[in-house]
Amino acid sequence: MNKKPLILGIESSCDETAASLITENEERTPIILSNVVSSQVDIHKEFGGVVPELAARSHLEKIDWIVKKAINDSKRKIEEIDAIASTAGPGLVVCLSVGLSFGKAFAASLNKPFIAVNHLEGHALSPKLNSNLNYPYLLLLISGGHSQFLNVKGLGQYKRLGTTIDDALGETFDKTAKLLGIEFPGGPQIEILAKKGNPNKYELPKPIFNKGGCNLSFAGLKTAILKIAKKIKNDQERFDLAASFQKTIEEILYKKTKIAFNEFEEQNKPEKKIFVVAGGVAANKNIRSMLKDLCIEKNYQSIFPPVELCGDNAAMIAMVGLEKFKLKQFNDLNHPAKPRWPLDDTAAFLKGAGVRL
Ligand code: KG4
Ligand code: ZN
Repeated sequence: MNKKPLILGIESSCDETAASLITENEERTPIILSNVVSSQVDIHKEFGGVVPELAARSHLEKIDWIVKKAINDSKRKIEEIDAIASTAGPGLVVCLSVGLSFGKAFAASLNKPFIAVNHLEGHALSPKLNSNLNYPYLLLLISGGHSQFLNVKGLGQYKRLGTTIDDALGETFDKTAKLLGIEFPGGPQIEILAKKGNPNKYELPKPIFNKGGCNLSFAGLKTAILKIAKKIKNDQERFDLAASFQKTIEEILYKKTKIAFNEFEEQNKPEKKIFVVAGGVAANKNIRSMLKDLCIEKNYQSIFPPVELCGDNAAMIAMVGLEKFKLKQFNDLNHPAKPRWPLDDTAAFLKGAGVRL
């Protein structure tokens, strides 16, 4: 029996400190041996958003025991680890530096290869954990910091089909929640409130709905919600606004995903049509079921990683590490933290005033 690679993944790009060990089984399916995630929600709650310096300090305080716990939980010995993979970007530089430095030092002390991982590549490959998913597939990545459609052709081969030109979807959920008086991060609460409301009560804008291909925009929607939220008088109206917001997001994603399907098929002519949804917002049950129905309608296989692998975690970082380890794609110990690190660096920068679609 050949020894299967044992990879340690470390994640600290934003407000989750995480470590994980993964390996492969006899069928070469990636399997998770341990997956430890420590969230800092309580630290940032009172500020209504992530405070970089506090986040970095908390990463520093926790990283040792989180890595130790991941190794203990895996029931493997430190010496058995074949490579260390740390998130190197994109993210908050003060946060990235903690996991990155720790991973480099760990690799140096064990004399094992070090792999610098793009956090977005982690989300992109997260559905490969515990599954036999093959390339290519269409990915919708919807998280707190990113909203993109990507044609995932192979390891390191990503073609961006569409992106948000302003706010990310998770950010839009969180800001809407704040306007509805829900504590940070309120995104997950919206769908709970929405169940009690009338989704047709408020007509909300759908920016760039009829243009811009499968690019997305949420800033105008947020502004509209701000105006309505100011006039809200009772709980029922809050529920109605949450329901109208949830419905509007579903309509936007339904239409834009259909466009992304067409572009994906044109680029790949795939034998099997596969659609993966990852990132924190992929935990939203209504979005999941709407997209599942769309996949049935359009003959796609739909894959949603389990909720614990949708949000930030280190198993997905180790997953990228595993694929790179097998191809001997290692990095030097002077690899920098990269706060901005697009997956498709050929794609145009589509943010801010003056964007033409
Ligand atoms: O992927 P993630 O854990 O972190 C980033 O890389 O950003 O995503 C976090 C985002 C937050 O904005 C959070 O509000 C949102 O995902 N989120 C949700 C739900 N669960 C998490 N948004 C809508 N519905 C949910 N159920
Ligand atoms: Zn993320």
